Amino acid sequence: MKITLASAPATELEVDALAIPIATGQQLGAAAQELNVAMGGVLGEMVTNAEFRGRIHEVLPMPAQGRIRPRRVILYGLGALHDLDGQRLRSAHHELVRASRTWGYKRLAIMGVEPLGPDSLKAVVEGSVLGTFERRSRQTGQAPERREIQEIVLVGFGAGREAEVIAAQENGEATNRAREWQNAPGNELTPDALAQEATRIAQRHNLEVEVLGPAELKSGGYNLLLGVGGGSARPPRMIRVRYHGNHQQGAADSTVLALIGKGITFDSGGISLKEPEHMSRMKDDMSGAAAVLSAIDVIASRKLPLDVMAVVAAAENMPGPTAQRPGDVVVSADGKTVEILNTDAEGRLVLADALTHALRNGATHLIDLATLTGAATVAIGHAASAAVSNDDEFWRLVEQASREAGDRVWRLPIYADYRVLLSSNIADIRNSEYGEAGTIMGGMFIAEFAGGKPWAHIDIAASAWNTNLELTTVLRGPSGAGTRLCIELAEMMSRKATDSWPPATSERVTRAGR
Ligand code: BES
Ligand code: MN
Ligand code: ZN
Repeated sequence: MKITLASAPATELEVDALAIPIATGQQLGAAAQELNVAMGGVLGEMVTNAEFRGRIHEVLPMPAQGRIRPRRVILYGLGALHDLDGQRLRSAHHELVRASRTWGYKRLAIMGVEPLGPDSLKAVVEGSVLGTFERRSRQTGQAPERREIQEIVLVGFGAGREAEVIAAQENGEATNRAREWQNAPGNELTPDALAQEATRIAQRHNLEVEVLGPAELKSGGYNLLLGVGGGSARPPRMIRVRYHGNHQQGAADSTVLALIGKGITFDSGGISLKEPEHMSRMKDDMSGAAAVLSAIDVIASRKLPLDVMAVVAAAENMPGPTAQRPGDVVVSADGKTVEILNTDAEGRLVLADALTHALRNGATHLIDLATLTGAATVAIGHAASAAVSNDDEFWRLVEQASREAGDRVWRLPIYADYRVLLSSNIADIRNSEYGEAGTIMGGMFIAEFAGGKPWAHIDIAASAWNTNLELTTVLRGPSGAGTRLCIELAEMMSRKATDSWPPATSERVTRAGR
C-alpha cells in the first residue's frame, strides 16, 4: 500500500473516498465546512441531526453524487476528545481502513482537519496500516473477506513529511508482522522456525546472529530453558540478534539495550497441564518474541545510533516422558537454584536464562516482553500491558515511549513484602504458584535475574490478544503489542545516546534483590 501526502484541494482528489474525522459533541471544523458546502450541506445535516455522532469506530459513507471529485465522502468517529489517546486514535483509523476495505475502496483520502492536528500524522498512518492486516489465510479456495487498498492520500498534514510517513508505515507493518507470527499455529512456528525468522532478519541487515541448540544450552548452563523445552520433541533455542549502532554517528556511548522476548511456541502447561478450553490460544505464547524480532528489524533498517540486541528464549512447553516435573530443582544459567512448583509458570523460567544471556553479552538496559500471566487480564484487561520495573529513570523512558507509540503500558508496584512469596524450602527461589499479585510475582521472579541493571518487564498476556468480543475499540485477535513500544524506546535511547545517557546517578528503587 502506498501512502502519499497531497497538497491539492481535497475536493479535487481522484479517490474512491474522502474521509473526515469527527469527535463526539463536535461540529464540522472550517475545512470540513467548506467540503460540506460543496456537498450541498449533507455532512452538516448528518451531524446536526445526530445520525452521525462521532463515536469511536462509527464509520458512515455517503455518495458524493458528482459534486466533488471523490466518489464518496466518509464521516468517521474519534469518540470523545478527552478520551482520545494514541491507542484510540490508531484504533479509529484501523476501523476506517477496515470499513473501506470491506466496501472495496482502492484509493482512500484522509483529511487532517480538526480535531486532528498535524502532530497526529504518525498515529493516523500507523492506525491505517494496522487496518490493512489480513490474517494469512490457511483456508483453501476462499477469497479474502476484505479487499486491499492501493493508496492512502493524506491531505492537510503539511508538506515535506515523507520521511515521517515512511517511518510510521514501517512501524505499522512491523506490528502486522508480529501479528502474523502470533497467529501462526504451533506446528508451523516451532522454536527452530522462530530461529530461522530471526536469522532471516539478521541476514537482511547483515547483523550478528547466534542460535543456541540443546548442546550449546547445556554447556552454557541454560538449564531453565532446557527444562521447559524438555518435554517437547522440538528442541529449544536461545536466539540472539545483535545490531551495532553505536559507531553509526560516533556516539561515544556504551548503552546496550536488550529487547528480550518470551518465545514459547506452544504452552500446554507441561505436566501442570492446562484445561483444554482456550488452550489453542497458547500458540501466541511467543508474542513477546514476535514483538522484539519485528522491532529489531525496524531498528536495524533505520540504522539507529544505538547498540540493540534481541534475545528470544524459544521452547515448546509440553508434557512427555522427558518433561520436567513439579518439584524439580533446576540450576539457572546464573547459578541460582530454582524449585519448579508449577510447570505452567514456564515463562519466567525461560526469561530468567534469557536475561542472563543478555547480560553475558553486554546488555546495560533490559526490557522483556512476555505473555506471562493470566492475572494480567484480571488486573488490567486487554486495553493495556501490565508492567513492573526496578528503575524509575528507565521506566519514565518506557512510559514516554509507550505514549509516543500508542502502545499502552501501566506499571504495577514491586513490594518488598512479596519477596517472601518467592522463597523455597529447598532452593534459592521458586516459580510461584498462582496466588495473589500474580503479575507482580511473575515480574519479581524475573527481576532476580536482571543483575541490578535497569530493567522493565512488560506482561502482554492480555494486551497481545483481545479475546473479549464486547471490547470492540481494542484491537481484537493478535495485536502485536509491544512492537512499537520497543521501536520507540530504541529511538528515544538513541537520541539520548548523543546526550549523556544513562545519567550518572540513576535512582534505582525497589529492586527485587534478596
Ligand atoms: N502463557 C501463560 C499465561 C497466559 C494465560 C497468557 C492466558 C495468555 C492468556 C503462562 O505461561 C501461564 O501459564 N501462566 C500461569 C502462571 C501461574 C501458573 C503462576 C497463569 O497465569 O495461570
Ligand atoms: Mn504457562
Ligand atoms: Zn506461557
